[in-house]
Amino acid sequence: MIVFDSIRRFKSTRQTLGGTLGLVPTMGALHEGHKSLIHRSLKENQSTAVSIYINPTQFDRAEDLKVYPETMSEDKEQLKSLGVDLLLIPNYEQMYPDTFRYEIREKGFSSEMCGAYRTGHFTGVLTVVMKLLNIIRPNRAYFGEKDYQQYLLIRDMVEAFSLEVEIIPCPIVRDPDGLALSSRNMNLSDSAREKAPLIYELMRSKGSDNEVRLGLTKEGFEVEYVKTKFGRRFVAVRIGTNPTVRLIDNIALIE
Ligand code: PAF
Repeated sequence: MIVFDSIRRFKSTRQTLGGTLGLVPTMGALHEGHKSLIHRSLKENQSTAVSIYINPTQFDRAEDLKVYPETMSEDKEQLKSLGVDLLLIPNYEQMYPDTFRYEIREKGFSSEMCGAYRTGHFTGVLTVVMKLLNIIRPNRAYFGEKDYQQYLLIRDMVEAFSLEVEIIPCPIVRDPDGLALSSRNMNLSDSAREKAPLIYELMRSKGSDNEVRLGLTKEGFEVEYVKTKFGRRFVAVRIGTNPTVRLIDNIALIE
């Protein structure tokens, strides 16, 4: 695996690559969910690139950014043993030479659901993903369905700007008790971790969105939203204190 902390060096190596390149963009703190995206990319492409960049512009709360888990040396070891070819670890100066004067803003769906609770979040996501796609120039890019709203917004951005990349959604990976894997799970206290599988359990119930909301509230979750849309039920909650951990999940509803 070649590790790049320089975008310029990455780009010159990219020019020498033949065959297809798959990209798995991440913010590190890798788990089995990330690994499933990487396995898929390794299977479908001649080369696979992973990026690790904790993108500050997508965090609406400074305290959330401060506690975002960082496990760089373990991440590098894992990526090497998985067989990843290229790892890009850029810094802020390289990713934002414009100090974020320019942004990609979506004017509809990005203000709903997670966007309604995290002002500017999707502008940060879309901007950094546009930058990564331009730098890495993958043929395919892989995104987890846990962040389904993010996946839809990226898919539509790629279409809106005629980008030459295939956006591939990959199924959510769960712990055996049903909790959707997320880097943020590392920040859960023991008692919050014990409660967290209730999100999956309650969201699968036959009740209305409002009933699921009431059930979660009764269990001590601070519910941001429970919403059915696109044949899926979406949930976002916060749990615990110091830090408060924000968890999201969604499932496809079977008719
Ligand atoms: O899903 C994530 O980890 C991030 O939002 C992404 C796509 C890497 C952009 O920073």
